[in-house]
Order: sequence, then structure tokens, then C-alpha cells
Amino acid sequence: MITFTREQNEKSPHAFGEFPSDKKSLIDALTSADAQELMIKADAARKDFCGDEIFIRGIIEFSNVCARNCRYCGLRRDNKRITRYRMTVPEILEAAAALAQEGIQTVVLQSGDDLGYSRNTLSDLIETIKAKFPGMAVTLSVGERPLDDYRAFKDAGADRYLLKHETIDENLYSRLHPGQSLKHRLRILAHLKKLGYQVGIGNIIGLPLQTTEDLADELIFFKDFKPDMIGISPFIAQQDTFLNHFPSPSQGLVLKFLALTRLMVCRALMPSATAIGTLYGADGCLQALRAGCNVIMLNYTPLRYRADYAIYDNKKALGLREARTIISSAGSKISFSRGDSFCLPSGRLPA
Ligand code: 5AD
Repeated sequence: MITFTREQNEKSPHAFGEFPSDKKSLIDALTSADAQELMIKADAARKDFCGDEIFIRGIIEFSNVCARNCRYCGLRRDNKRITRYRMTVPEILEAAAALAQEGIQTVVLQSGDDLGYSRNTLSDLIETIKAKFPGMAVTLSVGERPLDDYRAFKDAGADRYLLKHETIDENLYSRLHPGQSLKHRLRILAHLKKLGYQVGIGNIIGLPLQTTEDLADELIFFKDFKPDMIGISPFIAQQDTFLNHFPSPSQGLVLKFLALTRLMVCRALMPSATAIGTLYGADGCLQALRAGCNVIMLNYTPLRYRADYAIYDNKKALGLREARTIISSAGSKISFSRGDSFCLPSGRLPA
């Protein structure tokens, strides 16, 4: 069991495990530690700091239009092979009603970097969701926008923002994201924190050219950034991209990385990513929960659009019934509550 001194807790409202976080120890763990042992520790840390609940979110992928050209992603601007769609506001509200009806209290609104939805349109949408579905938490995952947009969305009632940094290696970041910079990404993340959002970061594991050393740097960054949420996806090739022949990482490496992440930032909310279910099936999702994940996102994108949200090949969607089975197999409880951040405002100790 991982124990924390009162002093450690006070210093760190995010709670860091006692697992050594120097680069060398992390590289050693990634290369030669026993995955099962790390998972047992991570599972204990999750239970200690977040309780025994797995939180359910509903995601609506409301547009696959994207202004960026990320080399690994099927939504990249230059991909002419997918049919682009933009859901209307009434369509988005209908999808939100469907998840609200199931009792889900977090809606994740995700899209490509689509400036076709103006600041006002998205602000109005957020306000309408808040008014129609009292108590619903709104998580935005709409990429890079002008900085003032983030304030407007927060004022409209948005609670959380997911903006994965994808890789913390500046060089790899530039190669994979033409026209973008890691520095700007991090500037936005700092801005989101300042605005009072619950902030989610995250990376892709198994990117071409990524090394074990890079993964150790990711873990160190997680600890330094103190995120409320961390989303980790294994790389999956997408047929229409230049990286379509690169392999995905092994499940063992992904599980180790998830477990170490949980030990770096004990209180983070960590989804078992859709990419994990896609690659390794329902058992992969179960193992991810055992490695420290505590969130499952269910897909509420209307069926007619799903195939076009082709960020990678064969993307799977999990239904509520399957999620229930996986969660009970993991010996945990399903939670439909908002599942707000466990990271406490500085200095406050958990009850
Ligand atoms: N493999 C894994 N994850 C991917 N994403 C985009 N393309 C891929 C891919 N080929 C992830 C990115 C992005 C999220 C919406 O999807 O991390 O933030």
C-alpha cells in the first residue's frame, strides 16, 4: 500500500506516489519492472486517493472538421478521404439528452479544431446544456482556439477542458504537428488552469520515433503539471495518414505506463481510452482499470456520423451494458455522479 506523510499531502494536493520519479528509475521501470507488480501498486493508489468508483462520461464527437494537419490523425486537414460533418446545435442537444436520460452527468463535447463554430455559438450551446440539464458537467475538447474563447466558454459554464499535449518532446511535437508548437500548446494549458478549468492533458504512447526516455519525460511532466485529468492513448495507425504502416505499442508497455502515471499523480482522473478498447478489446479496458484508470467514456455520437470520426482505424465504441460488466469484473463500482477533480485546492487535505 502506498503511504503518504501528512507533509507530502500538504505539499501536494495532487498527491504523488512514493515511486521514485527520477528519470533513471522511470526508464528502469518502463524497461524491466514487472507490470503486474506496478499494477497492484497503482490500483491501491487509485483506491486510496480516488475511492473505488469508475466514473462514466458521455462523449459527443460533434464535428470532424479540423484546421490542423497532425501526421497521425485521420481528421487531418489534408485528408480528403473522409466525409466531413458538423452537427447542428439541435443535433448536439438531442445527443446530450440521450446521455442525460441514462443518468450520466458529464458531457464531453469533442471536435477537430473547428473554428466554424464561433465563440458565440459554442458559448450559447454550453449555456443551453447547463440550463436544460441541471447539474450536468460540461467538458470541452475542441482544441486550440483564440485565448479569449476559453474565457467565454468558462463564463458560459464549461467546467473542464481536455487538451492533450500529445508528446512533451519538442522535436517530436514539431515533426508530428506541422505549423504548431509545443510551447503554444503549453501556454494554452497554463491559461486554462488560470481560468479555473479542471484541466486534462495526455499523450500518445507508441508514436513513431518515441523512445523509452521520452516516456520517462512524459511521466515527469505529468507530475510537474499537476493535471486534474490525464488521457493516454496508444498509437493506432490510420490508413489515410503517412504513418499508416507504423505498429501500435504492446499492451504490456501501455499497462506499465498507465500504472506509473497513476503512481506519479495519484488523484488524477484517468480514462481507459477508447484506443485501448479498440486495440486490446474489452479485456484491455478491464486491465486498464486494474492499472489505475478510473473513467470510462461512452460514445453518444449519432451512429450516422461515427464512422467519419476516423481519428484512427477501426475505432470502437463502448456501450453502457459492456461498461457495467467490465467495471464489475474489475471489482469496482460504477458511478454516474459528476466525478469532479480529486485534486484539492492547494493546502487542503482530503476529508
Ligand atoms: N492513434 C492514437 N490516438 C490518436 N489520436 C489522434 N490520432 C491518433 C492515433 N492515430 C488522439 C489524439 C487526440 C485524440 C482526439 O485522439 O491524442 O488528442
